[in-house]
Amino acid sequence: MSRVLLGVMTLSCAVHADWTNPFPVKKCNGVVIEDIDIDTVQGYFTSGLLTSQQLTQCYVDRITLLNPYFHTVIEINPDALSIASSLDTERLESGPRGPLHGIPILTKDNIATADKVRTTAGSLALLNSTVPRDSHVAALLRLNGAVLLGHANLAEFADYIAYDDYSEGYSDRGGQTRNCFNATQQTSGSSSGSAQSVVCNLCMAAIGTETDGSILLPAMHAGIIGIKPTVGRVSRAGVIPGSLSQDTVGPHARTFRDAAYLLDAISGVDARDNATFRALLSGASTHANFSDAVANASALRGAKFGIPWDVLWSSTAGAVTHRPAFLDVFRQMEAAGAILYNNTNIPRIRELQDPYGWGDALDTPMELWARTYLHVDLYNGLDEYLNGLESSPIRSFEELLAWEDTNNASTGALGGGEIWVSGADNFLRANATHGVIDEGYYLAKLWRHELSKAGIDTALTHIDADGNLIQLDGLLVPMAGAGPYDSPSSGLPAAAHYPAVTLPVGQDPWQLPFGLGIWGPEFSEAQLIRFGSAIDDLVRWRGRPQHYNYDTTKIPFDPRWPGFFDTPA
Ligand SMILES: *[C@@H]1O[C@H](CO)[C@@H](O)[C@H](O)[C@H]1NC(C)=O
Ligand SMILES: *[C@@H]1O[C@H](CO)[C@@H](O)[C@H](O)[C@H]1NC(C)=O
Ligand SMILES: *[C@@H]1O[C@H](CO)[C@@H](O)[C@H](O)[C@H]1NC(C)=O
Ligand SMILES: *[C@@H]1O[C@H](CO)[C@@H](O)[C@H](O)[C@H]1NC(C)=O
Ligand SMILES: *[C@@H]1O[C@H](CO)[C@@H](O)[C@H](O)[C@H]1NC(C)=O
Ligand SMILES: *[C@@H]1O[C@H](CO)[C@@H](O)[C@H](O)[C@H]1NC(C)=O
Ligand SMILES: *[C@@H]1O[C@H](CO)[C@@H](O)[C@H](O)[C@H]1NC(C)=O
Ligand SMILES: *[C@@H]1O[C@H](CO)[C@@H](O)[C@H](O)[C@H]1NC(C)=O
Repeated sequence: MSRVLLGVMTLSCAVHADWTNPFPVKKCNGVVIEDIDIDTVQGYFTSGLLTSQQLTQCYVDRITLLNPYFHTVIEINPDALSIASSLDTERLESGPRGPLHGIPILTKDNIATADKVRTTAGSLALLNSTVPRDSHVAALLRLNGAVLLGHANLAEFADYIAYDDYSEGYSDRGGQTRNCFNATQQTSGSSSGSAQSVVCNLCMAAIGTETDGSILLPAMHAGIIGIKPTVGRVSRAGVIPGSLSQDTVGPHARTFRDAAYLLDAISGVDARDNATFRALLSGASTHANFSDAVANASALRGAKFGIPWDVLWSSTAGAVTHRPAFLDVFRQMEAAGAILYNNTNIPRIRELQDPYGWGDALDTPMELWARTYLHVDLYNGLDEYLNGLESSPIRSFEELLAWEDTNNASTGALGGGEIWVSGADNFLRANATHGVIDEGYYLAKLWRHELSKAGIDTALTHIDADGNLIQLDGLLVPMAGAGPYDSPSSGLPAAAHYPAVTLPVGQDPWQLPFGLGIWGPEFSEAQLIRFGSAIDDLVRWRGRPQHYNYDTTKIPFDPRWPGFFDTPA
């Protein structure tokens, strides 16, 4: 661990020496399970120190204890214990199916599971709906022997019900997801409950979804690993959509190896999601062994990374505030043999990216804003999903909007007594498009998609002083946004449909973790896992949440401290 990071942590420990963590992770059947990884658990299962049923019970107990404060889980699977028990029996009789055998996993509440747990994207409107079948992802997790522990809380409809009148990580069913490091500080979203459940030790790992930032950003503020796969790597069939153009599904975990085990299990071709055929067309292996790609710091020797300094590092709040810590990580990487190239900039980034945070650039002509096509996708995607439900009182996007409008999304009835009336401003905008796919839709979507792809591809190709072309292994980006401005480091890979990963590298004086992201070309997940795990092995930042302010009822979160947004001269 670096001197700079130690300095920050020492400061916070010194200042808060009087605080005692109210929720230490208890031993499970006499075994330490805090921050345990999948290989270690499999070892305990094999030696008989622990059974899947015992571990599942320990997580259920911990969820029951913490959820009234942190609201990271919407619903526990009432059959989880019996499923774990039958997997224990199966292991004794015929051995484990693989690394996920008996491993308790939470899935975000927009990923359909055909079990007793309802799938609602956090909305009360879908409480009485039943799904026709498991989502492809849930089916694959079951096939691999995972215990589906329940559904994680999220920002309602993955942040697509409201942009203006909302609180990040809030849903009517689940209430306000809180950050386990400091409950008055933000979680980011929309897979807020998935990420916080992982760092809070409420499950072994979790699955989230992303349209633009929803896996990467909550992973950043939970201090864990997040992998946002290429669109088409993982099937979206049975996932309540935000935008079928750019939705993807991916893991949240405490280590790259655990995340890779999950990605190994859930990726592949699915006839119900034709985007998954892109993996075949592009020549990418559909049976990639991602856990095989996990490396140690020695993999950094000779590896080449670009630093797209312009905007991403130069003007965004978190990158500027945490610059000393980031520069220290760069120094460590160079000492380990990595070659860093500065100013491998993204062409036209000021048109594609708000220079201070998440979202469209104000300079971008309105008709080319991402929401031009995202609103149409939202209308059509939800229409198709609702229409395909096994049974539901709500069958179309307009019926859903009418319900939300009448009932006004919310008193937090199931969410622990917190009151927050979330708006439906984004649903109203989507409604105004009537889902019509016209020239404007294609123009905005293709413009952004092509420019984002070209931007990342160009930045990955460095031309040195002698005119030599150097193909870089990845682009390093800051994962450090906060307050009303979230991190900018998700918009380009989202629109390009490219993969990205984040790993934790530090923690700020108010306890919020921040991370380092890596971008690569499409279907480069194995490469990103290789280098992400190598940097993680080098930096080894591991935060233990102390649950400060756990009993707060503030909604929304506090902003960051004054001066956080100061940009450099
Ligand atoms: C769901 O069913 C309950 C009980 O029948 C009813 O009170 C509630 O209004 C229903 N909600 C929706 C969204 O259909
Ligand atoms: C792919 O699937 C979508 C959604 O189910 C469908 O609308 C579209 O027609 C399909 N495309 C092809 C080329 O089959
Ligand atoms: C993946 O790689 C690991 C490590 O090399 C190996 O143990 C495992 O059998 C491989 N899995 C598959 C499915 O090929
Ligand atoms: C790191 O990985 C390399 C390549 O797999 C291996 O040879 C080396 O022993 C590993 N080092 C450590 C410290 O594990
Ligand atoms: C990258 O270059 C910019 C100027 O173009 C400079 O301000 C910045 O300090 C450099 N960053 C690193 C890490 O060298
Ligand atoms: C819904 O919210 C709007 C404004 O946000 C308010 O005018 C209206 O009274 C609310 N309706 C209900 C049923 O709560
Ligand atoms: C949604 O749009 C339809 C027209 O397609 C309109 O009739 C309806 O009132 C709109 N819903 C709301 C809540 O504005
Ligand atoms: C938690 O965040 C609040 C602001 O929301 C801040 O005042 C407080 O100092 C933070 N707590 C710790 C222990 O850092």
